[in-house]
Amino acid sequence: MDPADYVTLPAFEETGYVVLDSYDQAADPREWEDLTFVDWKSSGDTRFAPLASAYGDMECNGFWNHTPPKTDKDGVWVDENVAAAPILTRRAQEPGANIGRCRVIELQPNEYGEALYNLHRDDNNRLNPEGTGWIVRAFFNLTDDPDTVMILREDRDDPSTETRIALPAGAQAIIDTQRLWHAVWHPGEEARYCLITSYESGPELDAYIRSKNGVSRIESVPLDPSVLAEGEALAQSKRDARAAALAARGDDPAFGDGSLSAGPAMETYSEA
Ligand SMILES: [Fe+2]
Repeated sequence: MDPADYVTLPAFEETGYVVLDSYDQAADPREWEDLTFVDWKSSGDTRFAPLASAYGDMECNGFWNHTPPKTDKDGVWVDENVAAAPILTRRAQEPGANIGRCRVIELQPNEYGEALYNLHRDDNNRLNPEGTGWIVRAFFNLTDDPDTVMILREDRDDPSTETRIALPAGAQAIIDTQRLWHAVWHPGEEARYCLITSYESGPELDAYIRSKNGVSRIESVPLDPSVLAEGEALAQSKRDARAAALAARGDDPAFGDGSLSAGPAMETYSEA
């Protein structure tokens, strides 16, 4: 699957992400507290509240896992949660681009090394017809998590390719999560909530990014070298432990069934 076979936006070409103007989150009610969440396995300790799902049901499965399967476009609004979160729904709809999955994630606190272990790429464009828009994902942070960062890496195993985007309330970024390895490091005391929406690249999303003064490169949040080193060591120890567990079971981690690889690698329906 090659993005060159799809409609892509120049804003993502260099870095794979765009940071938009912040949103005045504090002026809005905490609608996410009124949503219905469903258990869904992703990287990290998470739950999700779907605003748009494959066929409008209160569930979060990848659109390709339904009958009939579909790509991550033409999401169907989930009436109960849309009624509970009209402002979040309007924000998701504001770009006017085709929307696939749209949901609020609840992420429990974690460590930097755990986030590194959770680094993965999304499978956003499965079944996406060539010649149509490449699917990217927007992250609108809802809770005020000033010490929390979105970790992005062009190369999972190369820390020099890492960018850390701060996630205070109202932070807004759109990321090519099929290109970039990503995970959130959330050192807070309480759960973090974030609105995540899949959008089709095209003129509507392009105009929206311009209207929000999107920038394709930001200064990464600084991190103490000792924290970086500890994080790498923890992530590696978790990968080693997983590989050993798989080996003890008789599985070759390099040729597992995909759900049991030595790390999260590419997950089919992961969030961050
Ligand atoms: Fe993801």
